[in-house]
Amino acid sequence: MAAPRNNEKKAAHMTGSLPLALRMWRTYIRPHLAGLFSALVLMLLAAASTGAMAKFMEPVIDKVFGDKNPQELWPVAEVVFTVFTVRGFATYGQGVMMNNLSLRVISDMQRNMFAHLVQSDLAFFHSQQSGELMSRFLADTALVRAALTESLTGLGKNFFTVTFLIGVMFYQDWKLALIAIFVFPAAAFAVMRMGKKLRRVSTSTQVKMGELTSMLGQAFQGNRHVKAYGMEEFEKQRINGAVEQIYKLQTRAFRVSTVVTPLAEMLSGMAIVTIIVYGGMQVIQGHSTAGKLFSFIAAFLLAFEPMKRLARLNGINQMGFAALDRFFQLIDRPPAIQDKPGAGELRVQSPIVSIENVSFTYADGSDALRGVSFIAPAGKTVALVGESGAGKSTILNLIPRFYDVTGGAIKIDGQDIRDVTLKSLRGSMAVVSQEVAIFSDTIRENIAYGTPGATEEQIVEAAKLAAAHEFIRDLPEGYDTRVGENGVKLSGGQRQRVSIARAILRNAPILLLDEATSALDTTSERLVQAALDRLQKGRTTIVVAHRLSTIMNADAIYVLSHGKLIESGNHSSLLAQNGAYARLYGNLMRESA
Ligand SMILES: Nc1ncnc2c1ncn2[C@@H]1O[C@H](COP(=O)(O)OP(=O)(O)O)[C@@H](O)[C@H]1O
Ligand SMILES: [Mg+2]
Repeated sequence: MAAPRNNEKKAAHMTGSLPLALRMWRTYIRPHLAGLFSALVLMLLAAASTGAMAKFMEPVIDKVFGDKNPQELWPVAEVVFTVFTVRGFATYGQGVMMNNLSLRVISDMQRNMFAHLVQSDLAFFHSQQSGELMSRFLADTALVRAALTESLTGLGKNFFTVTFLIGVMFYQDWKLALIAIFVFPAAAFAVMRMGKKLRRVSTSTQVKMGELTSMLGQAFQGNRHVKAYGMEEFEKQRINGAVEQIYKLQTRAFRVSTVVTPLAEMLSGMAIVTIIVYGGMQVIQGHSTAGKLFSFIAAFLLAFEPMKRLARLNGINQMGFAALDRFFQLIDRPPAIQDKPGAGELRVQSPIVSIENVSFTYADGSDALRGVSFIAPAGKTVALVGESGAGKSTILNLIPRFYDVTGGAIKIDGQDIRDVTLKSLRGSMAVVSQEVAIFSDTIRENIAYGTPGATEEQIVEAAKLAAAHEFIRDLPEGYDTRVGENGVKLSGGQRQRVSIARAILRNAPILLLDEATSALDTTSERLVQAALDRLQKGRTTIVVAHRLSTIMNADAIYVLSHGKLIESGNHSSLLAQNGAYARLYGNLMRESA
């Protein structure tokens, strides 16, 4: 299997645990110091009462079996009851506080992660499987939470408890105590060794989980295609394979993390036998009391569980650290596209868009544009035409800086778009493309998306201009109808008109249209086209067009081929050239005939 080996290599580059822990502490835990401190105090109290419980076995036994004095029994009973009550409340209190703390920390991390992700550049999202990102968001933070809760509780409650109980053991019989606690370091040593292994297994598991999430998403969302192509069996095999790999990784993680249990039990059995034989002799020979021995055994047994938890801590922590490492790597990735220091606002008096000798290469090395230059004059419409893959969409993606040019420059009203803030740049334009995003919200919110202060009149006006008002009015709750994943499903044309209403409401001077009508049927296309024509009036429009009328009505036409501008002019001058455009036009004529 290639994948795990790959991940193990990755594991070698991991950040050490200490820097990760320190950073975690500084960034996420220190702000909650008061809560942590109160939790620690309660843990100390719970631990002390556990110690007291063991200690009070001595008077209980000795009073009953030794003195046989009922009068002395009552005070002991009262003390024992008090100890239990204190222990109960302290344990409850620290549990609640620790839980609050870890949940707070995890939600802080999730907020930071999303804040970072949402402003990442498109290139990043293209390079990532969205399933993997979701898995990081949910599964990694869960792992960090488990590790955090276990280590804070471990270092607090379990450590204190063990300390108090060992204290009781030494108090009762220091020689026996020395023998008994030998068991602990021996067991701990075995546990330490499995930590690294677990961390690696955890990384592989998360990678596989991400893959599984992506595959599930594809199989569910693309289910129509799975059915249409009869690929159910294939998908089943694929998912089965991934599920099986995760099963193997997780059973391996469990095996590794529990392998010490039999060893630890044997060691403790030996210790108990020693205690019984040696301690029993002491009692029989009258050097000690039954109460002391019982108290000692109680302390030893009570110490065992927290001890085991402390030993297991390393494994859980290793998985947590692996997750934390992935988390910080994600957070630390600077967005490739961001404001220059001191970037000013874009000022648009006359919205001229000039593309100056622009080249662009995608991250995977494909040259999409080579030395393209053209101008979209203020208030005019220019059309980009060319075969599929010529680079038309790429140009439109460069103007809002979804990607940055790799050569040349793009200027709006004379200002290089890299010198102005992204907010002002993107605020100056509206984008309508073939892929329409409808968010799970009301129609009203969907139209007002990106124009927060819009009034009801403006929203309705935009919907009217986009030829969307009628169908919205006919929806069960009008503008308050919920649409998207959990709401009313809109048709392709309706979705497109909502997105045009959104663009109209934005009222931006520059308009970028990328085959906005190509996925529509003729009736919706006519409605949408009319809406677009209204939208284009007085705005600088760059349109990637496939409709003849759109192309012919443009003030200028640019023909692209393999990332190069090969022809330009207006419809008649280009036809006269009898070149690429004429051929394209011929094809379009034949299609529409
Ligand atoms: N995200 C991407 N990553 C890598 N290559 C891409 C990406 N998007 C487009 N390309 C490539 O860039 C070239 C231009 O694509 P595009 O601008 O979408 O063409 P058009 O819109 O004219 O059909 C094509 O060769 C395409 O394969
Ligand atoms: Mg395209």
